[in-house]
Amino acid sequence: MKIAVAGTGYVGLVTGVCLAEHGYNVSCVDIDNEKVELMNSGIAPIYEPGLEELMVSNMEKLFFTTNYYDAYRDADVIFIGVGTPEKLDGSADLNYVYSVALQIAESIEKDCVVVIKSTVPIGTNEKVESIIRKNLKKNVNLSVASNPEFLAQGTAVQDTLYPSRIVIGVEEESTGMILKEVYQNFEAPILITNRRSAEMIKYASNDFLALKISFINEIANLCEIIGADIEDVALGMGYDSRIGSKFLNSGIGYGGSCFPKDTKALHWLANFHDYELKTIKATIDVNENQKLKLIKKSRKYFDSLNGLTVAILGLTFKPGTDDLREAPSLVNVPIMLEDGAKIKAWDSAGVNNFKKVFPDEITYCKTIEDTLTDADICFIFTEWEEVKNFNVLNFSKLMKTPIILDGRNCYNLVSVQKSPILYDSIGRETINNLEFSFI
Ligand code: UGA
Repeated sequence: MKIAVAGTGYVGLVTGVCLAEHGYNVSCVDIDNEKVELMNSGIAPIYEPGLEELMVSNMEKLFFTTNYYDAYRDADVIFIGVGTPEKLDGSADLNYVYSVALQIAESIEKDCVVVIKSTVPIGTNEKVESIIRKNLKKNVNLSVASNPEFLAQGTAVQDTLYPSRIVIGVEEESTGMILKEVYQNFEAPILITNRRSAEMIKYASNDFLALKISFINEIANLCEIIGADIEDVALGMGYDSRIGSKFLNSGIGYGGSCFPKDTKALHWLANFHDYELKTIKATIDVNENQKLKLIKKSRKYFDSLNGLTVAILGLTFKPGTDDLREAPSLVNVPIMLEDGAKIKAWDSAGVNNFKKVFPDEITYCKTIEDTLTDADICFIFTEWEEVKNFNVLNFSKLMKTPIILDGRNCYNLVSVQKSPILYDSIGRETINNLEFSFI
């Protein structure tokens, strides 16, 4: 079976590489020549643990090209894994998907199944099928299937090799059989449903996880007010298997390329059909406020950050990635700069990307120690292992005033209790072991 994949971002490239690992010959198509050259020389264009190694070890089964005709012409299955970014109104931009559909129509010379892996609004599979059919150059049998992707950045390879489930949305049984064959060596439950349900499963899954995060963040905010501890509350809730313990980490809100975009896109879609998804609206609103939580907390200690040295630990939207999309840091840094703060920042992987947005306004440090030296206040935006393993006692040794605002609850309060610092985290008691008090 010959497979082609359109797009070599997180979804496309990881899919292509993992299918090659399962023995298939896979042609990966991208419009970006530079990216294609990089991949042909064995370099993964995205930061994703384990991806490059797996790519290199399957190089003889992988073909990277900008020539879509060569890739699609005689493919049995073509996966579409291109981006569906957010438009200004919150809806999903499907231009990349549609342009791949046109290229497929122009190219295919034998019967094939087109599989949409990108996250697309409900009804898109039908539109793609009609675009391809209208523009077909050769008389071939074609079917379009939905097969949403559930990988998370940072664990993308593992999530794809060992998926929690494989969802296949088809309108004919025969197409379902072909996709079942593609996935025959993957050990995961396979759900075969119709295309609209498969498209909905993807949005509903992401939006439910986002809702879970916004819910726990609201409970955390209330815990701070009433004197409860969110870590214990989440632990106590998570023992109930109906609730589950995952995605109950409170913090300064979710970011990334999926939850913010997919919550807005589903909300937009519902509105379009004259229905308001109230839970999703609340999820989005809570998250926007949550991203400002630490800046608001800082006002308890300083009226303004003007003239202060601010240390930032973590810039990416989560650890294990260099991706900054919708990261809380991107909302907070402009406010700090407008306030007149002098910012020093550290991140394990995201500095180069952050420099593209803020080339000169920030001093980028190579170590956590350098970042903290002489700082008046520290903001933690990402729970990198380096931050979690950092000895709490060192904050007071390095900083001018060791005030730590932790947006990811990196430290155990017991270890913090023993340190001469002020530690204000999310949904927990503020520990103030400094000799002065504020306001
Ligand atoms: C998410 C989903 O987890 C994947 O299943 C899905 O396939 C993917 O979107 C997608 O649609 O492509 P991802 O955005 O890579 O994956 O990252 P997550 O690990 O889900 O984290 C998203 C955000 O939620 C991060 O900012 C993270 O810090 C935050 N988060 C996560 C919390 O604030 N609390 C938690 O308990 C968990």
